[in-house]
Amino acid sequence: MPERIGVIGAGYVGLVTGACLASMGHQVTLRDIDEAKVRMIEGGDPPIHEDGLRQLMHECRDRLRATLDLGEMLEASQIVFIAVDTPPTHSGDADLSRVMTVLDELEQIGATGDHVLVMKSTVPVGTGERVRAELDKRGLEHVGYCSNPEFLKEGVAIADFLSPDRVVIGDFRAADGDAVAALYEPLGAPILRTSVPTAEMIKYASNAFLATKISFINEIANVCEEVGADVTEVAEGMGLDARIGPKFLSAGVGFGGSCFPKDVSALKQLAGNSGYHFQLLTSVIEVNELQKRRVVGKLKRHLGDLENKEIALLGLAFKPGTDDMREASSVVLAARLLAEAASVRAYDPVAIDAARHTVRGVEFYDDPWACVTGADAVVLVTEWPEIVGLDWPKVAQVMRGDVLVDGRNALDPADAVAAGFAYEGIGRVAPS
Ligand code: UDX
Repeated sequence: MPERIGVIGAGYVGLVTGACLASMGHQVTLRDIDEAKVRMIEGGDPPIHEDGLRQLMHECRDRLRATLDLGEMLEASQIVFIAVDTPPTHSGDADLSRVMTVLDELEQIGATGDHVLVMKSTVPVGTGERVRAELDKRGLEHVGYCSNPEFLKEGVAIADFLSPDRVVIGDFRAADGDAVAALYEPLGAPILRTSVPTAEMIKYASNAFLATKISFINEIANVCEEVGADVTEVAEGMGLDARIGPKFLSAGVGFGGSCFPKDVSALKQLAGNSGYHFQLLTSVIEVNELQKRRVVGKLKRHLGDLENKEIALLGLAFKPGTDDMREASSVVLAARLLAEAASVRAYDPVAIDAARHTVRGVEFYDDPWACVTGADAVVLVTEWPEIVGLDWPKVAQVMRGDVLVDGRNALDPADAVAAGFAYEGIGRVAPS
C-alpha cells in the first residue's frame, strides 16, 4: 500500500532513500534547509553524483517532491526518515541539535499519533533512547521511533537500497517497527527486528568489522613485502574459505570515505565512554593512518630525497565512482609529499573540484596525460577504470622518471615491468 513518507535531510542518504521509496510507489516529501538543493531536486536535478539517481528521480517525479518547510513535510507524511548528518562532537557523542529541532516542530504542529520517526543516520548507541525520552518529555508519547540504519555504498547506493543483504529495524513498540518493515517487505530481503540500541550497534559493528578486515589485509600486505609473498594471491587463498569470504580483502593505501573512519572512531569513543578500552579498533585506525603514508617511503627508496621531484597522483576520490573527498587517502598522501618539498600534481576524472577545496598546493589536471608527462613518479591512488585502463607503456614514455607505485594493486606487475617501470605494488613483489 502506498504510504506517505517524509525524509528530513536531502543529502546522500536521504535523497537515495527518498528516490528509492518513491520508485516503490510511495509518496515522498523531502525536506532540506538548503534552498539551492531543494530547488535542484524540484527541478529533477540531483545535487550529488550518484549513478542512476537522475534517472530514478525522473521516473518517479510525480511522487517525489522537496520543500524547505518542515511543518509542510510533517503534514504530508506519516513515516518520517531522519537522514540529517549527526556530526560527532569533541567528546565523540553525536550532535543531535538537528534532530531536536524536528522534535520541537513536531510539538508545535501538534503531531498526531500517526507519525513514526525512523533514524537512518548513523548515531551513537543510546541515541534512540535519548530521543524517545525527549519525545515523551514533550508530550509526544504517541509519536513512534525506530532505528533503521543505512548500509549504502556510494556509487551503488540505489542497488544497495533496492536489493539489500538485510534490513535492520529496531523499535520500542512493535507496531512502529511493523509499519517500517512493511515498506521493505516487497524487496524480499531478510528483515531483522530488534531493539533500538541493538540496531544502532549493528551498524557500527558492521562498519568496524569491514574496516578491520581492510587494516588486517593491509598489515598482511606489509609483511608480504618483507617475506616475498604476494598479497593478492594470499587474499584469494584466504577468501576461498567460506568463513572468511573474498570481499574487503584488497590491500591498498587505506580506507577513507564518510563512514568508515568516522564510525570506527565513534565506536572506539563510545566504548571508552562506557569504560571499555576497545584495543583492536585503536590498531585498526593506526594501521590505516600508517598505510596512507607508506607510499612516501616507497617513493624515497627509488628517488631518494623528494625535494622538487615531480610526483603525479592518479585518482583523488576515496574510491572510484564518486567525487567524495572525505577522508580520502590522497589528502594525507598529498600533504606528506608537499611536506617533503615534492612538487605534486594530480588528476581525477570527477573529484578535481571537490579536491581543490580540500588540498592546497597541488597542481590539478583534468587530463591524465598532462598530469603524468614529465613526472618522476606516478602513484595510482584511486582505481578508476579510466586510470587503470590507461596506455601504461605510453605513460612510461612520457614520464621523466620510471617509478610507478600502484596503490591499489590494480595493474599487472609483469606488464608494468615490461613497459619499463620500476613497479611497486602494495604487498607484492614485482618480477625483476
Ligand atoms: C561504507 C560501507 O560499505 C557502507 O555499508 C556504509 O553504510 C557506509 O560506508 P562507502 O563509504 O561508500 O560505504 O565505501 P566502501 O565501498 O565500503 O569503501 C570504503 C573504503 O574502503 C574505500 O576507501 C575503499 O577504497 C576501501 N577499501 C574497500 C579497501 O581499501 N579495500 C577493500 O578491500 C575494500
